[in-house]
Amino acid sequence: MLLDDAAAVAAAVAQAIVRVAGHSAVARGHFNLALAGGTTPRAAYELLASDPSVVRWDCTDVFFSDERCVPPDDPGSNQGMARAALLSRVPISEHRIHPIACGDAPAGAALQYESELRRHFATHQDSLTAPVFDLTLLGVGTDGHTASLFPGDRAVSERERWVLSVGAPAGIAPRDRITLTLPILNRSRHVLFIATGTEKRAIVRRLLSENASAESLPAALVRGLESTTWFLDHAAAGKD
Ligand code: 6PG
Repeated sequence: MLLDDAAAVAAAVAQAIVRVAGHSAVARGHFNLALAGGTTPRAAYELLASDPSVVRWDCTDVFFSDERCVPPDDPGSNQGMARAALLSRVPISEHRIHPIACGDAPAGAALQYESELRRHFATHQDSLTAPVFDLTLLGVGTDGHTASLFPGDRAVSERERWVLSVGAPAGIAPRDRITLTLPILNRSRHVLFIATGTEKRAIVRRLLSENASAESLPAALVRGLESTTWFLDHAAAGKD
C-alpha cells in the first residue's frame, strides 16, 4: 500500500489494525496482536490510542516481535515505546500485555517468553501450522532485518524455536536482544510491514524485487498465512 507520507502510513496502519481486530473479535472472540519495535510504528500506535473505542481491548492480547535488553524506561525499549504511545492510553488489562523481559540472562529470557507463548497458544501446540497471531506488525532495517532477525544470523535459519536471544551486528545498538523467529512469525494470519523515509528506499526496492528471498533477507522470509502487506510512503517507495 503506497501512501503520500509517514502520517498517511500511520493512519493506514492504524485502520488496518482496527479492521483485523474487529474481524478477529467477531470470528474468534479474541485478537492476538504482535507489535513491532523501533520508531516507525509510534505514530500509528498514537493514532490507535487517540480513540480507545476502536479496538476491543478487553479481548486483545499484545505481544512483541522483539525486544532490546534494556530497562523498560530506556528510550530504546520497544515495550517502553508501545506503553507510552499506546498501551498506557487504552483500557487493556496488564495481564493481556506480554512484554519480553530480558533480565540478566537473555537466553533464559528467550526460553521464558517461548513458554509463555506456548502456554497462551496451547490449543495450537498440536498443530505445526495453525495460526497464532491474528496480526503481526513489523518494521524493517536498512540491512533487511526485521524483528531482531539480522542477515546471516543463525536465528534466521531457526526452524523449531519460537524465541531466541541474539546479538545485533556491530554498530546496531542495543546489541543484546530477544526476537521471535520465523516459525512463529509465519504463523500470523496477517503481517503488516511498515517503512517510511528515503533511508528505507534501497532496502524496500531489494525486498520487493522478485529475488529478495534468494538473498535471504530476513524481512523477505516473513509471510502471513492470509496476507502480507507493505505500508510505504512515497519516500520509502522511491516515488517522489
Ligand atoms: C527493533 C525492531 C526492528 C525495527 C527496524 C526498523 O527492535 O529494532 O523490531 O526490527 O522494526 O530496525 O526500525 P525503525 O522503525 O526505527 O526504522
